[in-house]
Amino acid sequence: MQQVRDYKRITVAPVGGVIGAEIGGVDLGKLDDETFAEIRQAFADHLVIFFKDQRLEALDFQAFGARFGELSITSYVPPLPGTTHIQHFMREASHKWGDRNFGDNWHQDQTIRDRPNSISGLYSVDSPPQGGDTMFSSLYAAFETLSPALQDICGQLTLVHCATGLYGPDGLGGRGVKKAIDRPKFTLTDEQVREHLAKETLHPLIVVHPVTGRKLLLISGPYATRFDGMTEDESQPLIQYLYQHAQRPEFVTRWRWQPGQVAVWDNWACMHFGVQDYAGMRREMYRFEVEGTVPVGPARRERMLQAAE
Ligand SMILES: [Fe+2]
Repeated sequence: MQQVRDYKRITVAPVGGVIGAEIGGVDLGKLDDETFAEIRQAFADHLVIFFKDQRLEALDFQAFGARFGELSITSYVPPLPGTTHIQHFMREASHKWGDRNFGDNWHQDQTIRDRPNSISGLYSVDSPPQGGDTMFSSLYAAFETLSPALQDICGQLTLVHCATGLYGPDGLGGRGVKKAIDRPKFTLTDEQVREHLAKETLHPLIVVHPVTGRKLLLISGPYATRFDGMTEDESQPLIQYLYQHAQRPEFVTRWRWQPGQVAVWDNWACMHFGVQDYAGMRREMYRFEVEGTVPVGPARRERMLQAAE
């Protein structure tokens, strides 16, 4: 059950059993520091926060995102003209049932980065009258509900993250996502695409959240290739078990968009899933992402804390 603190400037209403809260009483275009401090607290507690009835231009949304930290941007997606860090996601009504997209699977964004982005935000410019929801799952809950013995085993493991499975010829790319990294809309050369696909990044499987200190499963399934020091055949059964476990409905909340709504989620403590069920309808979103740090596991975190004493 999600506990709600006492707030002076905002209202907070949980929208799921373990994840998600709707924040009321604020105009994100006119935030003061005290109100933002309460939003930041609610964000740490509830992992994904939602706002309704906002009227934001792209630069307003960018300024809101920058309150959370230094903004970053995915290298192969150029920013919306007139902004430095807003990505523009639009699907016209002409798209067809079955057309795939980057986000229609359970994932954390870009865990192939050495410093995966810590926070992502979406603003709905235009939403279909039904469909196009986004789902979020808690990776704190996924960790906390494992048996203690399996938690210990996971704490020893380092996960290799690689984009080949997602964007490579045998991955989702073969079913349409590959089109999405074709030019001219995206800015990578063939060489950069090859480098991007080949890059392997190692992160601890269990990570201590740098703000809350809680442990989470960093399991972004589409990127999870194998455990360091093990073969894919040895690794995949446990990877798939953990990935499926993290999708359990009781760890999930689902947001039904309307224009003018905002979601901000913790890209380390949540997986998310953009549901592609709005063929024949238009959807337009602005997005920001906030730079992350290097993920640290429990043992290293302990050593860092001792060294700091
Ligand atoms: Fe995503």
